[in-house]
Amino acid sequence: MTLVDAGGLGGTCLNRGCIPSKAYIHAASRMQELVAHANDVMMGISCEKPKLKLAGLRSWKDDLVGKLTGGIGSLLQGAGVKVVHGHAIFTDAKTCTVRLNDGGEQTYTAEHVVLATGSTEAELPFLRFDARVLSSTSILELDTLPKTLAVIGAGYIGLELGIAFAKLGTKVTFVEALDTILPQYDAEMTRPISRWLKQHKVTLHLSAKASGANKTELLFTDKDGANQSVPAEKILVAVGRKPNTSGLGLESMAIDMSGSFIQVDNQCRTSMRNVWAIGDVVGEPMLAHKGTAQGEMVAEIIAGKKRRFDPTAIAAVCFTEPEIVGVGLTPTEAKAAGEDVITGKFPFAALGKALAMQGGKDGGFVRVTARKSDHVVLGIHAVGAHVAELSGEFALAIEMGARLEDIAGTIHVHPTLTEGFAESAMSALGHPIHIKA
Ligand code: NAI
Repeated sequence: MTLVDAGGLGGTCLNRGCIPSKAYIHAASRMQELVAHANDVMMGISCEKPKLKLAGLRSWKDDLVGKLTGGIGSLLQGAGVKVVHGHAIFTDAKTCTVRLNDGGEQTYTAEHVVLATGSTEAELPFLRFDARVLSSTSILELDTLPKTLAVIGAGYIGLELGIAFAKLGTKVTFVEALDTILPQYDAEMTRPISRWLKQHKVTLHLSAKASGANKTELLFTDKDGANQSVPAEKILVAVGRKPNTSGLGLESMAIDMSGSFIQVDNQCRTSMRNVWAIGDVVGEPMLAHKGTAQGEMVAEIIAGKKRRFDPTAIAAVCFTEPEIVGVGLTPTEAKAAGEDVITGKFPFAALGKALAMQGGKDGGFVRVTARKSDHVVLGIHAVGAHVAELSGEFALAIEMGARLEDIAGTIHVHPTLTEGFAESAMSALGHPIHIKA
């Protein structure tokens, strides 16, 4: 097997996406905690206000990424995969010429081809990326902390990185075109995040469209159509991602497209025999764990196993403050799909472990949505500190077709956040223990 990649092994997720951003998000939370407690005297011990060297954080992140990419290199070597560092351009469905990173070209022909070219940050035509207008990649390469940051787009990337930079000490302002943050989630879910932004003096302009920039500010039109501006030493553009389908020779491969994405069936087969496509390039959700699962499946199908990509639900996590997890349908989506539902909600404010971890005060909760007739769980949503770690149990429950009684009847460890999940199911069944029914 031959793997062709022009960038670092591990793609966007490992080199400039999930892992580097989570490193910054984690460090930013530590920084915020230290700042909040600087000069407190506990047991006679106090510490001074911490100082941040952004270049130091960047090199810590680079080390972390280096270790993980090195690990992937070893795994590939162990599996006998030949790695070619270069950019592939297909001349027909099974043949590509690789422009090697070190110079020169090589041509490869294969019986099976898997396209996993991912996606890139969308640019705004009137604000091209440069040293001041940053993408989710270049913001993680800064060596000094900007005093002010204007973030265009309060979706996944804007909020995750904007909140991290606010915690590090930058004055952050969001400009979001819609009348809500994180449109994928309902108002009940996003309220704790809006509250955090307000409490931490992070300004949020909704129904506001970015229109350009002058030397010191980002310009936008507000909900009434009036021209406004916000301070912007740097600008982060986080208005979505687009699939990497150009410059690949896709036209020579004669495969069908579905809009801007490569069209695939439920086995990730393209319209051309033995050409497969996986990950962001085949469409939403653009999540690393979806791409990984599709890759595993395609490898097994090529190896002769019978598989298809048919998850009941794919969990999504937004690493904001507090975190958000969503698996399956919200009550509104379930009703729109014709379901008669019951819901149960349990607040982390009533959970010992959440309070012990200084959570619970952020308005967080677990909410379960189930079909009224048979109690099969259709959706699980949670907001709160550390809830990302519950996403596995949530996804498992939905994938296994759990009913409310299965969740309520499973003994959950005390004290853990998972108790909140069991209690939400009990609440839906009308008999919660630690809150009033
Ligand atoms: P997004 O679609 O989540 O949010 C983009 C936001 O920008 C939208 O709310 C949109 O209304 C707004 N917008 C667009 N044009 C605008 C303009 N001219 N002025 C003001 N606002 C404007 O896209 P984002 O945040 O770039 O993330 C892309 C994708 O990357 C996500 O959909 C997700 O699949 C993936 N991702 C996943 C993460 C995770 O799993 N934790 C983290 C980061 C990204």
